[in-house]
Amino acid sequence: MRRFLLLYATQQGQAKAIAEEICEKAVTHGFSADLHCFSESDKYDLKTETAPLVVVVSTTGNGDPPDTARKFVKAIQDRSLPADFFAHLRYGLLGLGDSEYTYFCNGGKIIDKRLQELGAQRFYDTGHADDCVGLELVVEPWIDGLWAALTKHFTSVGGKEEMSGTLTAASDASPRTDPVALELLHVESQVELLRLDDSRKKDSEVLEQSAVNKESSALAADFESSLTRSGPPLSQASLNIPALPPEYLQACLQEPLGQEESQASVTSVDPIFHVPISKAVQLTTNDAIKTTLLVELDISKTNFSYQPGDAFNVICPNSDSEVQDLVQRLQLADRLEHRVFLKIKADTKKKGAALPQHVPEGCSLRFLFTWCLEIRAVPKKAFLRALVDHTSDGAERRRLQELCSRQGAPDYNRLVRDARACVLGLLRAFPSCRPPLGLLLEHLPKLQPRPYSCASSSLFHPGKLHFIFNVVEFPSDSTAGVPRRGVCTGWLATLVESILQPNTRAPPADGEEALAPQITISPRTTNFFHLPNDPSAPVIMVGPGAGVAPFIGFLQHREKLQEQRPGGRFGAMWLFFGCRHKDRDYLFREELRHFLKCGILTHLKVSFSRDARVGEEEAPVKYVQDHIQRHSKQVARVLLHENGYIYVCGDAKNMAKDVNDALVEVISKEVGVEKLEAMRTLATLKEEKRYLQDIW
Ligand code: 2AM
Repeated sequence: MRRFLLLYATQQGQAKAIAEEICEKAVTHGFSADLHCFSESDKYDLKTETAPLVVVVSTTGNGDPPDTARKFVKAIQDRSLPADFFAHLRYGLLGLGDSEYTYFCNGGKIIDKRLQELGAQRFYDTGHADDCVGLELVVEPWIDGLWAALTKHFTSVGGKEEMSGTLTAASDASPRTDPVALELLHVESQVELLRLDDSRKKDSEVLEQSAVNKESSALAADFESSLTRSGPPLSQASLNIPALPPEYLQACLQEPLGQEESQASVTSVDPIFHVPISKAVQLTTNDAIKTTLLVELDISKTNFSYQPGDAFNVICPNSDSEVQDLVQRLQLADRLEHRVFLKIKADTKKKGAALPQHVPEGCSLRFLFTWCLEIRAVPKKAFLRALVDHTSDGAERRRLQELCSRQGAPDYNRLVRDARACVLGLLRAFPSCRPPLGLLLEHLPKLQPRPYSCASSSLFHPGKLHFIFNVVEFPSDSTAGVPRRGVCTGWLATLVESILQPNTRAPPADGEEALAPQITISPRTTNFFHLPNDPSAPVIMVGPGAGVAPFIGFLQHREKLQEQRPGGRFGAMWLFFGCRHKDRDYLFREELRHFLKCGILTHLKVSFSRDARVGEEEAPVKYVQDHIQRHSKQVARVLLHENGYIYVCGDAKNMAKDVNDALVEVISKEVGVEKLEAMRTLATLKEEKRYLQDIW
C-alpha cells in the first residue's frame, strides 16, 4: 500500500478528528496513513521522511499553532536551518481557523510558510477551513481531492517525473455561505430539530402550520427542494455518508470502592491550588445587560504567584443537574458512583486507536462526567454519524443522517453548531438514541480549564488574587427550554451568589464557622502581557468591558511602585475604557477615579456605547476606537516618538480588529503614509513587543 505520513496539531480535538477521518478513508483509497500528533516527535522524522506528508493543523489563542505543535514550530523556526532542509519533502496542508478572529488559520499558515522556506513542495493545494461558516465546506472537498493528488504524486515519483508547478500556489478559496444563514443563530424547538425526516409531505404540512419564524421556514424549504433536486429518496449512499466508523472504546463499570478522587488527575502536568474565595462583588447594577462579578481568591496559604497582566486557569466542573440528566438518558443513573474502566475493543479496525488520555482509569462515572468531559461540546458530524447506529426509531435515524450529510450542512450549522447544541440536547431531541458509554468517551473532548486574567497586583493586595468575569448566558437550549449559563461562569456565579446572598447557603452546624467556597486554579505558562520593564515608558491601555481587568492590576502595581520610589520617573498611563451605560456597567469607576486623582492614570477616556450622546460637536464617540481616533496625535506620539507601549485586552472578534484598524488610520494620518506602510509600522511594534494583545 502507498504510505503517507499524517500529522495533526489539535487544540479542541477538531484537527485530530479530521486527521482520523483521513486515516480511515485512506484505506478505501488504497493508501495507508501513519497518523501521529505533532508532539509525538519520536514517532516520525521529517528530515529523513520520503513518503508524502499530510498535515492538519488548527489555530488557537492569538493566531498560534496548538500547544502540541509549539515544539515543532519552534524547531523549524530555527533560522540557522539551510534553505534546502526539507527539499526532499512533499506535503499537503489543511489549516483550520475561524475568520471571525484576526489571524485566520494562522497556525497552519506559519507551518506552511516555514515548510516552503525550507524547500518542501506542496503536492496538493493548501486548504483553509473556516469554523465561522462551517469547517466541512472546505474540509470535505479537500479530503475528497486528496486522493487524486496523492495518486498523482505517487505516479510521478514512480515515473521519476518532476513535480508539476501548478499545485505550488496555496489557494485560500474558503467558500462562504449565505450571510442570511449565518444570522440564524437562534435555537429551534425539538420539533424543528426533528422536522425534516423523510416523510416530506407531512413535514411541509408541519412547516405550513407551525408558527416557526420565516427565515427558518425558508431555510427548511430550501433544504426540502435540495433533497428533491438530489433525486432518489434518502439513503446512506445518496447522502454520501461514509460507512459508520467502528467504535473502538468499551467502557466497563465496576462497583464503587469509596476511593477519594482528586482533581489533580484532570490537569496533566501543571501544579494545582485549591484556594478559598475570600470576597465577591457584583460590579454591575442589576439592570445591566451583562452581569460582571469580581472574585477575590485567598492565595496566602499557597506558593501561587503572579504578575499583573498574567492569566491563570480555573478548573471547573460541569453542572450537577446536567450530569444527572445525561446519565439518566444513558440509563446509568443508578451507577453514578461505579468506577469506569476502558478498553479498546479487540475487533476495532480504527487505526491508531488509543485510550483517551483525559479519562482517568478507574474514576467514578460521576467524576468522569463532572470533571473530565466537555459535555457541552458541540457534537461533530462524526459523532452524529456514530449515533445513528444506536438510534432505534427510523425517522430519527434518517434525521441524524441528514444532519451529518453534505446536503444537511445548513441545518447542522443552524441547529447544532450555531445553536451550540450539546450531547444532552441531542439525546433529548432523539429520544430513541441510546449510545453506549464508550461512544461518548470516544467523542466528548476533555473538559478544558478556563483562563482568566488577574485583575490585581500582589503588591497592592498581598496574598490575594482578583479576577472578573461576565456571566455568560446562552439562549435556551432547544430541548431544555431554560437559558443556559456558561459552564465555568455559571458555576462561579452560583458560588458567588452564595457569598453575596449568604442566606442561600446551608447554615453551618452550631459553633462551626461557615466555610468559604473553594475553587481550583493552576498557573499558565504562556503569560506575556506584562508592563514594560522600564517604568518611564509611556503606556496606552485599551480594555472595554471585562477587558479592563489586567489594567486594574497594572495601575495597582504602578501605584505601589510610585510609593516605593518617590521622585522616580514614571511614564504616562492612558486608559481607553468602554461600556454600555455610565450608570450600569462602568466597571471599577471609583478605582479609576482614584488612580486619576493621584496621578497614576494620566489620561482616562471612557466611551458609553448605549447612552444617548448629546451635543457632540466632533465625530461621535461610541467605542474605544473612536476615542483613539479622537486622540490620534497623542497616541501616535506615544507609540512612534516616545517608545511607548500599547496593550489591548478583550473581545477578539470585533473590538481588537476595529482597534487595530483605528491604529492603522492614526499612524497613516499622523505620519502621512499609506495604510500599507502604517500596517508595517504596527507589525514592527508587534515584533518589538510594544503592541500586545490579550484577546479572546
Ligand atoms: P455594544 O454592546 O453597545 O455594541 C463592552 O462590551 C463594550 O464594548 C460595550 O460597550 C460594547 O458595546 C463595546 N463593543 C462592542 N463591539 C465593539 C467593537 N467592535 N469595538 C469596540 N467596542 C465594542
